[in-house]
Amino acid sequence: MPPLLLLLAVLLLSSTANGYPSTCSNATCGDLTIAYPFWLNSSSPSSCGYRGLGLACEGNTTLILPAQSHHRYRVSYIDYDTRSVFLVDDAEAEALNTTTCPHLHFNFTIDASSALHLTRSDSNITFFYNCKRNASSPSAVELTGCPDYNGSSYAFTGDGYTGAADEYGCEAAVVAPVLDAHKKAMVEAPPASRYVEVLKGGFELNYSPHSVQCGACERSGGWCGYRHNQTHGGPGVVGFACFCDGGPTDDQCESTSGQNYS
Ligand SMILES: *[C@@H]1O[C@H](CO)[C@@H](O)[C@H](O)[C@H]1NC(C)=O
Ligand SMILES: *[C@@H]1O[C@H](CO)[C@@H](O)[C@H](O)[C@H]1NC(C)=O
Ligand SMILES: *[C@@H]1O[C@H](CO)[C@@H](O)[C@H](O)[C@H]1NC(C)=O
Ligand SMILES: *[C@@H]1O[C@H](CO)[C@@H](O)[C@H](O)[C@H]1NC(C)=O
Ligand SMILES: *[C@@H]1O[C@H](CO)[C@@H](O)[C@H](O)[C@H]1NC(C)=O
Ligand SMILES: *[C@@H]1O[C@H](CO)[C@@H](O)[C@H](O)[C@H]1NC(C)=O
Ligand SMILES: *[C@@H]1O[C@H](CO)[C@@H](O)[C@H](O)[C@H]1NC(C)=O
Ligand SMILES: *[C@@H]1O[C@H](CO)[C@@H](O)[C@H](O)[C@H]1NC(C)=O
Ligand SMILES: *[C@@H]1O[C@H](CO)[C@@H](O)[C@H](O)[C@H]1NC(C)=O
Repeated sequence: MPPLLLLLAVLLLSSTANGYPSTCSNATCGDLTIAYPFWLNSSSPSSCGYRGLGLACEGNTTLILPAQSHHRYRVSYIDYDTRSVFLVDDAEAEALNTTTCPHLHFNFTIDASSALHLTRSDSNITFFYNCKRNASSPSAVELTGCPDYNGSSYAFTGDGYTGAADEYGCEAAVVAPVLDAHKKAMVEAPPASRYVEVLKGGFELNYSPHSVQCGACERSGGWCGYRHNQTHGGPGVVGFACFCDGGPTDDQCESTSGQNYS
């Protein structure tokens, strides 16, 4: 579908109807292009794009994916061909800045209904903080420079979570996704800063339609998005919309521009 036509249709609709997205067009933030299925959360309260992929552009330079309640991830790159986005944990930036001991506080978790998924490029590092007993596992490396703690802290690069938190009497455990390639290259980095460096390298997520409804809309030639429902629930209620050449619908486009699945 010609994006220009769609853009025109949407612009036209937005001037005649209430609450339609003012734009499905691309935006920029710093040197990154924000295009479908991502959207700028400042551009419009309802928009073209997948749920959960609304990005905040801060200071016209930093692109943030708000996720989970306490968490912000900085978007370092979006590859629209492979449908992947590269993120760096921004909430933990301070922890990565100030010390050789990456003092993380949050596990990366992703909702099963999210449009985002971890990829095969990702791997985990598990950090254990303030352990009462010394770890003896060969895949446990003691962290240096963890000033807040009396006990020892460790990084585990082995597969999976080993339950070491209990075994060694650790106060906290945090699992962080990193790019597997970076983890493998980590041995080249200076030991003191290697975990901080690999965390700063971020990780990769793939995106795909977040719902059956959205998948059907895309297959019919439409773009998934949201719009306000003025008649039911007032302007605060945002419902699914499928943006088609002929305007937005509640489910999918008519058969003219694609297959009809109804
Ligand atoms: C918007 O950006 C995407 C991804 O870079 C690109 O494929 C598409 O052609 C752009 N659309 C327009 C109208 O510039
Ligand atoms: C965009 O998201 C950021 C981060 O969650 C939030 O602070 C900001 O208020 C949002 N902007 C709008 C217009 O919703
Ligand atoms: C944001 O950056 C773009 C490109 O660098 C520039 O064209 C635009 O004027 C900037 N906007 C603001 C509000 O600074
Ligand atoms: C990290 O350090 C750099 C330079 O040392 C500083 O400019 C930046 O503000 C720091 N960031 C945080 C989140 O502390
Ligand atoms: C990394 O940890 C997450 C959550 O703990 C898990 O879902 C994922 O499968 C792990 N990835 C690998 C490669 O072990
Ligand atoms: C644990 O390790 C620390 C230094 O890493 C060492 O000083 C201490 O003696 C060890 N404790 C035991 C019980 O091995
Ligand atoms: C470290 O040990 C001292 C003395 O046992 C204790 O007073 C202090 O609260 C401990 N600090 C932490 C962070 O556990
Ligand atoms: C992170 O996940 C591990 C294993 O799933 C769990 O044991 C740990 O308590 C979690 N840490 C935090 C800070 O939630
Ligand atoms: C508004 O909500 C009602 C009830 O859920 C639904 O029947 C109607 O199609 C919706 N309208 C729009 C424009 O989404």
